[in-house]
Amino acid sequence: MKITRNTKIKDVLSTPSGHDIIARVLYAAGLDENLLKGILGNFTIGGIKRLTLGKIGDSFIDSLLEMLNSETETVPYDDCEIKKEWWKEAVFYEIYPRSFKDSNNDGIGDIPGIIEKLDYLKDLGVDALWIAPFYDSPNADNGYDIRDYKKVMEEFGTMKDIDKLFNEAHKRNIKVIIDLVMNHTSDEHEWFIKSKNNDPKYKDFYIWKKSENIPNNWTSLFSGPAWKYYDERKEWALHLFAEKQIDLNWENPEVRKNMQDVATFWLEKGADGFRIDVISFISKADGLPDGDETLGSLIAFTGIEHYFHGPHLDEYLNEFNDKVFNKYNAYTVGECPGNGVMMSKLITGDDRNELTQVFSFDHIDNPGHVRIFKYNFDIRKMIPELVRWQTQYSNHCWPTVFFDNHDNPRMVSKVVKDGPYLKEAAKMLATIQFTLKGTPYMYQGCEIGMPNTDFTSIDEFKDVESLNAYKEMLNRGFSKEKSFSNILWGSRDHARTPVNWSDDIYGGFSTHEPWIKTNQSYKEINVESQLSDKDSVLNYTKDLIHYRKAHKSLIYGSFRQLKANRNFFVYEREDDEKYLIIINLTDKTRKYPVKPQGELIKSNYTETSDKLRPYEANIYKIS
Ligand code: NOJ
Repeated sequence: MKITRNTKIKDVLSTPSGHDIIARVLYAAGLDENLLKGILGNFTIGGIKRLTLGKIGDSFIDSLLEMLNSETETVPYDDCEIKKEWWKEAVFYEIYPRSFKDSNNDGIGDIPGIIEKLDYLKDLGVDALWIAPFYDSPNADNGYDIRDYKKVMEEFGTMKDIDKLFNEAHKRNIKVIIDLVMNHTSDEHEWFIKSKNNDPKYKDFYIWKKSENIPNNWTSLFSGPAWKYYDERKEWALHLFAEKQIDLNWENPEVRKNMQDVATFWLEKGADGFRIDVISFISKADGLPDGDETLGSLIAFTGIEHYFHGPHLDEYLNEFNDKVFNKYNAYTVGECPGNGVMMSKLITGDDRNELTQVFSFDHIDNPGHVRIFKYNFDIRKMIPELVRWQTQYSNHCWPTVFFDNHDNPRMVSKVVKDGPYLKEAAKMLATIQFTLKGTPYMYQGCEIGMPNTDFTSIDEFKDVESLNAYKEMLNRGFSKEKSFSNILWGSRDHARTPVNWSDDIYGGFSTHEPWIKTNQSYKEINVESQLSDKDSVLNYTKDLIHYRKAHKSLIYGSFRQLKANRNFFVYEREDDEKYLIIINLTDKTRKYPVKPQGELIKSNYTETSDKLRPYEANIYKIS
């Protein structure tokens, strides 16, 4: 269906892109999509201008129309039997190598450090690892700027270490997926150097534009314009991320061939699949038109509507599967910022030949907010977004369930802020993670409830995104205090401080001062002490994981949310067995919203009570 200014909103909502785009725009504006299901659904797209009293102008409507018409395919999936797959049952664990474990005491985590901890991970119940980039890189973005895809970063070890890691993990029946960064390379990659110097073979490997002024108004996700001028070619090159991360030109078949070759290389070496970095950004709209400023201000980046699910995305993914992934039966999970539940169906439906799973991020921040600007996070606002994926994604697709990764502050700290109940909240998050439908992706340190780090000055931050955003805030006239407090709230560095292994110096991560500040909590919160504490977050998490493995109804069972006010998350999972999960999302003691039934098999409080205590999370087995 071609969407025009005269199409009614309710008809737009019935298409995947229409649903997701409208929901995303409302989300960014802090509004509920249900608003449009009622009478407002009869407004036309053109009528939005009136609805917003003219605050939204014609150019916004034009961009909206362009986005809405960018993906017109529909996937009208009805429910079906869930196919059983190893990756639906598996527990994944993300490792950020630089901060996981330092084996040679140079202050930087490394591959042998990961090997050292495989038994620990196995015991925890981990079935698969996602290893963030470990390739040769000048580290403008900690390895997400790759200089050589087939070489290991010297700080992390050697190719022999990687071979050993694959072997040792496989011996323990742990699969290993690795990060495939295909949207961009480092500006120090040989392809870019040749391209910059007009080598005919590499000339069109990147997105170059000849233009007197900056080619368009797109902004980088790491602040500032998304273009850099190169004197060598007298042209601009696109970089959606840091200046040193240049976007590849996927329209060039040679680029696709080279990336297919990289993926094949690693699958031949024994990788079981890939987490694919910003895969949804690889195809950009024809002509690279200006982005809409209103939309840009809502979402924090201008231009994203022209590449978040570009015109050739499905085609490139189909080709990649045919040429590479299918031959190896490789598992793939794509990072797809901006793609909502309906568009993700297009990418992950059983018959689509695109990706196995996706990461979508709308639940991580509250509606109307972006990570880098401080706000009062409220976990209650996350629940509708989680439920959306539980109920609307269909049995042809399978969600990922995560609250943390290397790109976000620690969720547990967002929930409790400076308040008490850190341990209860960490266990509550684990309870939700391991009882929802979907593949749980844990992030290092969450299993012990590591909180954010107490950075005290901007000089302690390492992340390019944080440092650029700080500078930009100052340029925009924010005070130093305000800018610092934003960064302290939203920085990715919170997730990147070393794992607390013990109460030894530097949390047992290294004997050398680490590359980034050590988390202040290491004396009280560390793996070693939690292993021997029956009541620890670690042992709670481990029990949950093992219970989930042994009770497949928690994996494949249907999901049903029960009515309760917004202070609670209450749901059932049902297959051969039936479970009731009751969660208090607040730091207050409250009356039970529903009557507990059956046997209490897990709780984050050791004693029972007739009231639900702060962040109390209980799992009941009904039958
Ligand atoms: C997403 C990655 O998770 C993030 O760490 C990185 O900075 C960007 N993609 C750019 O590669």
